[in-house]
Amino acid sequence: MSTPTPAAPPRPDRPGCPGRPERPDLVVVANRLPVRQVPGDGGSTWERSPGGLVSALESVVRTSSMSWVGWSGAADDPEHPALTSFEQDGIRLHPVPVTDDERQGSYDGFSNGTLWPLFHDAIFVPQFHEHWWEAYRSVNRRFAERTARVAPHGAAVWIHDYQLMLVPRLLRELRPDLRIGFFLHIPFPAQELYLRLPWRAALTDGLLGADVVGFQTTVGADNFRLVTRRLLGARVEGRDVVRAGRRTHVGTYPVGIDADRVRRIASDPATVARAAAIRAELGSPRTVLLGVDRLDYTKGIEVRLRAYRGLLEAGRVDPATTVFVQIAQPSRDEAPGYAETRASVEQMAGSINGDFSALGGAAVKYLHQGQDLAELVALYRAADVMVVTPFRDGMNLVAKEYVAAQVDLDGVLILSEFAGAAHQMRQAVLVNPFDVRGLEDAIDEAVNGDRRQHRRRMASLVRGVHRDDAASWAEHFLGDLRPTPTAASA
Ligand code: F6P
Repeated sequence: MSTPTPAAPPRPDRPGCPGRPERPDLVVVANRLPVRQVPGDGGSTWERSPGGLVSALESVVRTSSMSWVGWSGAADDPEHPALTSFEQDGIRLHPVPVTDDERQGSYDGFSNGTLWPLFHDAIFVPQFHEHWWEAYRSVNRRFAERTARVAPHGAAVWIHDYQLMLVPRLLRELRPDLRIGFFLHIPFPAQELYLRLPWRAALTDGLLGADVVGFQTTVGADNFRLVTRRLLGARVEGRDVVRAGRRTHVGTYPVGIDADRVRRIASDPATVARAAAIRAELGSPRTVLLGVDRLDYTKGIEVRLRAYRGLLEAGRVDPATTVFVQIAQPSRDEAPGYAETRASVEQMAGSINGDFSALGGAAVKYLHQGQDLAELVALYRAADVMVVTPFRDGMNLVAKEYVAAQVDLDGVLILSEFAGAAHQMRQAVLVNPFDVRGLEDAIDEAVNGDRRQHRRRMASLVRGVHRDDAASWAEHFLGDLRPTPTAASA
């Protein structure tokens, strides 16, 4: 944890102004700032948020100066100290205020009650409310205005994710000098789903304000090109989309992790000791199965517990020698569908324990708590099998972290076909998460199958997560956003 640099000296908050010898040349715009406020003795301080985008951009921070526009996560009022720009770990941070009403309408509502379920194949029924849309528009406008004020002349601006899909167009209108990129971390759905959205044309036009729009998979990129043609009459030229004389490059950039960092943590003797301690705390079972997810209805937590239950009922797995550890990180408590999902996961974990646990140990260890990366990596090392079964997922970085932690190649990864990661991680045990019997067989195979074959597959997966890591993802996207004379690629 570190203390924030005291309020920065008054610094011109306008573009292209020579306030610092070295201007930030990349502006990241994301819903959240890469820090969170923690209460301390002498008032609150900021600390780096675990994981996520900021780790992915670590390599960029090292090689160029960077600033970041985002929401602090708190309900802000104009007097909130978070609204002052400040510096943390070499990144200049520019908080965007979001009031409690706006959070409800834009974050819980339009982002997580409309777009999130719609873009995840409507697994949970998306809701369409005019007032949510209005809140989303006004929050997107505030992000665009804040970015327009702080971006240096000619800077590259990289906007992230579904909470900010209108920002590229709004920002271009305010600052035509900028290079603007947008990356969608979640899936872009099939036309039939996207076309349900009453504000579909405005949202599509919002993205076409960018010079580069990136997706996790080629399927997402193809879906997007199709809707630009259908809704806005855009022309598709190869991978690019051309509309009203402006060209937007539409590319595929599967996001990676900082695999070296995970491997370093995994190889640390303290992690090895912690992994051994975890197994001992679990009662030294023969087999540890692991799930790690945000508690979200897209993640398929219930289906994996149902499969585990099926194996216990059929006697294919012995509860005396097996434990399923499920980490469910608290998430979006106030967005539609999340409380129900929590209730059903907890009911299922409780009923498995009621039916199959012994006094000495539980068949399922369920933790509704966030864990830091060091503890997660120790869990990855302690687990024999990682079960990643989302019904739909943009990528799923947990699957990649698990693989990067397998320094001894001992673990087995079970992975949903419907996670973006499955497009790259073909050597995992791939499953259809809607097929409970198939999932039972996959768990059985992971636990009892040919160890040598599983090790070979893991070795290939490990090579992949190191090759296609976060740094190469960022370099690929930014290379296309700041094109050299040799044009953009995909
Ligand atoms: O996967 C999409 C995403 O929005 C990530 O960008 C983010 O890290 C994660 O979900 C958590 O979401 P939230 O910011 O809503 O807690």
